[in-house]
Amino acid sequence: MTTHTATATAGTNIALCKYWGKRDAALNLPAVGSLSMTLKEMTSVTRVEFLDEPGLDVVTLPDGDPDAFFTERVRTFLDLVRARAGFERRARVTTRNNVPTASGLASSASGFAALALAATRAAGLDLSPAELSALARRGSGSAARSIFGGFVEMHRGEKPDGSDAVGETIAEPGSWDVRLVVAVTSEGRKPFGSTAAMEHTARTSPYYREWLESAPADLAEARLAVGARDIGKLGTVAERSCLRMHASAMAADPPILYWNAATMGVIRVVQELRASGIGAWFTVDAGPHVKVLCRATDARAIEILVKGVPGVFKTVVASPGPGARVVEESS
Ligand code: DP6
Repeated sequence: MTTHTATATAGTNIALCKYWGKRDAALNLPAVGSLSMTLKEMTSVTRVEFLDEPGLDVVTLPDGDPDAFFTERVRTFLDLVRARAGFERRARVTTRNNVPTASGLASSASGFAALALAATRAAGLDLSPAELSALARRGSGSAARSIFGGFVEMHRGEKPDGSDAVGETIAEPGSWDVRLVVAVTSEGRKPFGSTAAMEHTARTSPYYREWLESAPADLAEARLAVGARDIGKLGTVAERSCLRMHASAMAADPPILYWNAATMGVIRVVQELRASGIGAWFTVDAGPHVKVLCRATDARAIEILVKGVPGVFKTVVASPGPGARVVEESS
């Protein structure tokens, strides 16, 4: 039996201007554009093998079988690749993260970016980065950004088919020496997955409309801040975007509150650092972990302070990393 195999890797990314809400759920089109940094230190490595036979895809993780929901998401995604390639072969997928899965540390971003690249190459397709980004977006909105390295703007797009709802590098990884100090504040899975949480926010939060109205100006400001390599401006807009996203979710009915005591503890440390003249700015995604934006030269000292916050049990200093790439291919 002939098989076609490819392995790809991608770094996860942290949004400094958040994506929250969809303009089209079926095509997974974002309601707002977003801006992120792709991380070098937190990655997924995904291997896809297409067998010359139809049937059910098999998905494995190194630390046991994935849950049914995850497997189904991967199968649905592979259907898109099969439709494009014009075949019905089943796949064997193995994926490994060095990010705690489903903890709010955006493993779906790196996972679907690596899967999009590995699956298309194993299927014999050669997509452009923009096409890969649009495909990865169908797996997870934030994955569209992880196709690209460095600082990435995700365009909201206008077209109904979503071909312009893709990411784009606006600053290369080596062009700005900043860090994100990641403070992990819980181990378990997050209580509300982001897909359901943003849908619930859009349906029930009285602040959702305001969120949609305020996001474009924040994105424009963040884009300029990256262009000017102005960390203070970027940090200020990142905190604002984060708090506005969480405010819209907290105001949903019933509310969605991702934070725990350690989340708040790290935020306080960041505010104190800034009051003492050290550049540090926080952001929080759909989970309780905090990521602190800072200059490379301040990162280690900030990491030590953040580690001392009760409830923080792990920290990682992350730097701007490359986009998704193929590491092995054979047929
Ligand atoms: C809070 O990309 O996980 O991390 O498109 O439904 O899979 P789906 O959502 P996902 O949402 C990410 C939300 C966020 C903000 C961000 O990364 O921009």
